[in-house]
Amino acid sequence: MESLASTVVLLEQEQAWRDPAAFLWRAEAADRLDLLLIGAHDPAWRERAARLLDAMETLDAEGFSSIRDAIRRGEGRAALTAWLDVGFPTGQHYDVLDHIVAGVLSLEEPAVPCVLPAEMVFYQPSPARHIIDGVARAGITAGDIVLDLGAGMGHVPILVAILTGARTLGVEREPAYVDRAVEAVARLGLAGVHMRVGDARDADLSEANVFYLFTPFVGSVLRDVVANIEREARRRPIRVITLGPCSRTFARMPWLRSDDPDPQAAERIVVFRSTLGER
Ligand SMILES: C[S@@+](CC[C@H](N)C(=O)[O-])C[C@H]1O[C@@H](n2cnc3c(N)ncnc32)[C@H](O)[C@@H]1O
Repeated sequence: MESLASTVVLLEQEQAWRDPAAFLWRAEAADRLDLLLIGAHDPAWRERAARLLDAMETLDAEGFSSIRDAIRRGEGRAALTAWLDVGFPTGQHYDVLDHIVAGVLSLEEPAVPCVLPAEMVFYQPSPARHIIDGVARAGITAGDIVLDLGAGMGHVPILVAILTGARTLGVEREPAYVDRAVEAVARLGLAGVHMRVGDARDADLSEANVFYLFTPFVGSVLRDVVANIEREARRRPIRVITLGPCSRTFARMPWLRSDDPDPQAAERIVVFRSTLGER
């Protein structure tokens, strides 16, 4: 059976995880060490494991910092290329890509009141692989304007802007989340990302041609926002990118179509296009 001692010795000799870009290698190794440290009592082995974990954290921090530098130079997409092949992602779990995005964005979740108004969903960021998938499948380019309704700490507007150069907007009801997002946007020098505090029902939808929703609300709030998006779809072609149970609502709208074999799927991104201009 794998022991803490044998893993420590192996990792001390191994070079691969010392490559600053080897985030996945380090994440898996750190995970193994964390597990083996449970119930391990020998102080000498614990100390050597802690030293390895510190070294991994330092390398991660260097890697995040060099990706941040690339973003500031407008080369963020190139810096993230190695992680952009996400296949056909499903599920709402987080993985190494979220670890990288969290490290690069350096967003600390603020304490917020835990009672939410009825029908509004608590904060949870979209897993990064879904954002990347949405960008690819909706064909977002620098000419688009993308609005995240219920934008939390801005993962979607920030990542979409980095990957595509599109102008991005986010509206979020919780001011503390918007403050964090605005700080991250300033740190990364992203001039085309704009976050606003507000209720999505009152948001100005007139600029955007792509709307993103990771089930931020349900019931009558979702119905009101869907009606507002439909009004925009009568004025210009739009796309709607959804994740989670709200896909089911959009899938039932006669003014939207999707090429997705199952537009009601909740475990992955679904892309819809308006049909109102097609008549
Ligand atoms: C599931 S999180 C999604 C966060 C972000 N869109 C993402 O994908 O990373 C839902 C967010 O919607 C916000 N929210 C809920 N109801 C809202 C409303 N009526 N107007 C604006 N934001 C709202 C919540 O505060 C929360 O941050």
